[in-house]
Amino acid sequence: MSKIDIVTINEIKTQTPSIKSLFFEWDKEIDPGQFVMVWIPGVDEVPMSLSHQEEVQGITVRNVGSATEALHEFEEGDKLGIRGPFGRGYSLVSDNVLAVVGGIGGASIRPSIVDLVSKSKNVKCALGAETKEELLFEDELSDLTHLHVATDDGTKGHEGFVTEIIEEMLHDIDCVITCGPEPMMQRTADIAAKKNVPVQASLERYMKCGMGLCDSCSINGYQVCRDGPVFYDDELKKMKEFGKFERDKSGRKVRLC
Ligand SMILES: Cc1cc2nc3c(=O)[nH]c(=O)nc-3n(C[C@H](O)[C@H](O)[C@H](O)COP(=O)(O)OP(=O)(O)OC[C@H]3O[C@@H](n4cnc5c(N)ncnc54)[C@H](O)[C@@H]3O)c2cc1C
Ligand code: FES
Repeated sequence: MSKIDIVTINEIKTQTPSIKSLFFEWDKEIDPGQFVMVWIPGVDEVPMSLSHQEEVQGITVRNVGSATEALHEFEEGDKLGIRGPFGRGYSLVSDNVLAVVGGIGGASIRPSIVDLVSKSKNVKCALGAETKEELLFEDELSDLTHLHVATDDGTKGHEGFVTEIIEEMLHDIDCVITCGPEPMMQRTADIAAKKNVPVQASLERYMKCGMGLCDSCSINGYQVCRDGPVFYDDELKKMKEFGKFERDKSGRKVRLC
């Protein structure tokens, strides 16, 4: 097993009603889109993107179950363990990039947008959430990118799925990066393929080791922790389960909603 670094939470920010960022100092280099295993003492160890990789590092967490609920109960001064970095991140070489982001997917994509903008690349962003209150990093993304918003309930921007607004945004785009619910990423890949625009998508699967040993994160011959989490469209096309099935904690194949 790789070494665990113990870090101290020095700031906590509530981003949306269901999402908080926890900031700490960690002295490791990490590529945008790579991930870490976060150990919550006495609770669990779970995969997380490093949403903030500047002077201060941070994770941004959506409360969905026991581990993420425990992270939401953290206070400044509390300690957690970090293992990593792991996996393959985004390849950020294109000049005109469209980021398609849904829900908590902004945690994975944010460092790529910061990196691209720091290199004076053009970045458009399609940001989706269920409601306007759940639009993650909306103000920052509005400053950094040419931002279009969609909400399921129509409380801000386009009423409906974020994939319904991306076709017109693909004009002059060389590359799409995407993170969010898997059916959203699959639809994004289909729309981009029709315009011959390459796609990189960050996948989530249940993870135990994070480093290619247990195979709990497998999808059609790939291990998400080692070969991904970011995959290119030629790889996504080979994954029959992409956008359709995932594995539960026991390894059973279950249909994605
Ligand atoms: C590479 C990677 C990066 C991630 N980055 C982030 C991040 O930056 N912020 C964030 O909030 N979450 C992120 N996740 C998801 C996060 O790891 C899970 O939400 C977390 O493990 C849930 O643990 P829990 O004990 O709170 O919930 P559980 O009780 O374990 O699960 C609650 C629900 O979440 C689902 N779930 C649990 N783990 C996963 C998983 N790995 N993939 C898909 N669904 C899962 C379960 O099926 C269940 O429906 C990432 C996952 C991966 C694989
Ligand atoms: S999490 Fe163990 S092999 Fe990927």
